[in-house]
Amino acid sequence: MNDKNRIYIFDTTLRDGEQSPGASLDEKSKLEIARQLAELRVDIIEAGFPVTSPGDAAAVRKIAKEVKGPTICALARAVTKDIDIALECLKPAKRGRLHIFIATSEIHRKHKLNKAKDEIKRIATAAVKYGRQRIGEVEFSPEDASRTEPPFLYEVLESVIEAGATVLNIPDTVGYTTPFEFGNLIHGIFENVPNIGKAIISVHCHNDLGLAVANSLAAIKFGARQVECTVNGIGERAGNAAMEEIVMALDTRKDIFGGRFTNVRRDQICKTSRLVSMLTGMVVQPNKAVVGRNAFTHESGIHQDGLLKLRKTYEIMRPEDVGFGETQLVLGKHSGRHALENRLAKLGFKLSPKELELVFGDFKTLADKKKEVFDDDLAALVEREIVATPETHKLVYLRVLTESGGEPKVTLKLRSKGKTLSAAGTGSGPVDAAYKLIDQMIRRRTRLLDYQIRSVTVGKDAQGEVTLKIEGDQGEVVIGRGLSTDVIEASVKAYLDAINKIAHRHRGDKKAKAAYGV
Ligand code: KIV
Ligand code: ZN
Repeated sequence: MNDKNRIYIFDTTLRDGEQSPGASLDEKSKLEIARQLAELRVDIIEAGFPVTSPGDAAAVRKIAKEVKGPTICALARAVTKDIDIALECLKPAKRGRLHIFIATSEIHRKHKLNKAKDEIKRIATAAVKYGRQRIGEVEFSPEDASRTEPPFLYEVLESVIEAGATVLNIPDTVGYTTPFEFGNLIHGIFENVPNIGKAIISVHCHNDLGLAVANSLAAIKFGARQVECTVNGIGERAGNAAMEEIVMALDTRKDIFGGRFTNVRRDQICKTSRLVSMLTGMVVQPNKAVVGRNAFTHESGIHQDGLLKLRKTYEIMRPEDVGFGETQLVLGKHSGRHALENRLAKLGFKLSPKELELVFGDFKTLADKKKEVFDDDLAALVEREIVATPETHKLVYLRVLTESGGEPKVTLKLRSKGKTLSAAGTGSGPVDAAYKLIDQMIRRRTRLLDYQIRSVTVGKDAQGEVTLKIEGDQGEVVIGRGLSTDVIEASVKAYLDAINKIAHRHRGDKKAKAAYGV
């Protein structure tokens, strides 16, 4: 932490981001995202909150073991049990950080914790001391800091620094503050905490009033050196500060941020955004800054004319700087393995020979159906193959008959746990009919919570991508995705993908429990 202008990006997509309603991620998806965050070169990855579930603990341990580059962080309440589990999970990390929190605001003290100020300070200090005796980096968060009485906040911060905290994170837990107020609070901390020079100030802003990024930037202006954020701004309720917006604001407006910079690889931003969206099932709104589909699309004639004369007239960032792929025509059905491998390398995918073989097979099938294969088609194929869940139930055959005014008829054949099952039936529409049949064939009851379909690229022959969310019979919420040029087939694949995840998750939980005993 020696360049005074360097802003450290603390990514909490896998912890606070995963707290987005319905965005639960399995271990494999978390590892995939963590690897991509390392490619993106964030500084710290908050991998999870291990005490909350055996699955979370296992994911933190796996990331700590396998992801190189960023510091790996785990969250814990100011409670010995939480801290011990978090430390245990961080053990394999080359560089680990323990993140301890306890609420400090009056409303949380009185109504949530039922504890007086002195007691909160004592618990926070003891927890930090305990943690610091066991790991070199301890971050402390006074939860709901922005609604805490500033003098008490200063007191707690001074005490935890004394106890060994290396990073002090100031959360705007409920997204209540505004840029002026938050900037002043950060300024006040520098002015009133005597030993503040021994720690780094971090901020963690929520987006309830749509101000998370603005508040984070105001804090940077007043000396914060670490920003906590998530990819696509996902997180509790209205989400957290969006990583891509903070990085690009600092980069685009170097002039007003006095040369502050991050180490993030901007050209990896869109790829990371797409991966997080795919694995969490949280679709990015088209007008989302930096990564939305329309972020670089100019509709008005006046704007288009200006752009043709000089791009900078209407473009403050270049799409290619953030890896916003122009949907170029890249390959067709005569393209070979080598051309595919080259193109994938340009898109940032490094595949093993086995993975390349799988993607090549899918590519050939797609190229037979679709004349033009675009970069986004390839990315979707790769992401599907690399993060695919083992196919306990696999689609073998699908026939759909529909006619105006009549009931659709669906015939399905599945390969399920080594057996071939077939059935035929009807429903209110072909998707409903197919889902009912699958439920009967595999004897599972699920509830469809969300269903979305989008075309991966342009053109009438584009692949349709279905993203859905289902709730299993034990209340587990999972996301499924399916890709095909036939939207009914994509729907069936997405449903089976979600069901396979539930099957896989139960196996994973048993293993984690056996290994960890939590
Ligand atoms: O929003 C919050 O206060 C948090 C803390 C645990 C840092 O997420
Ligand atoms: Zn938070």
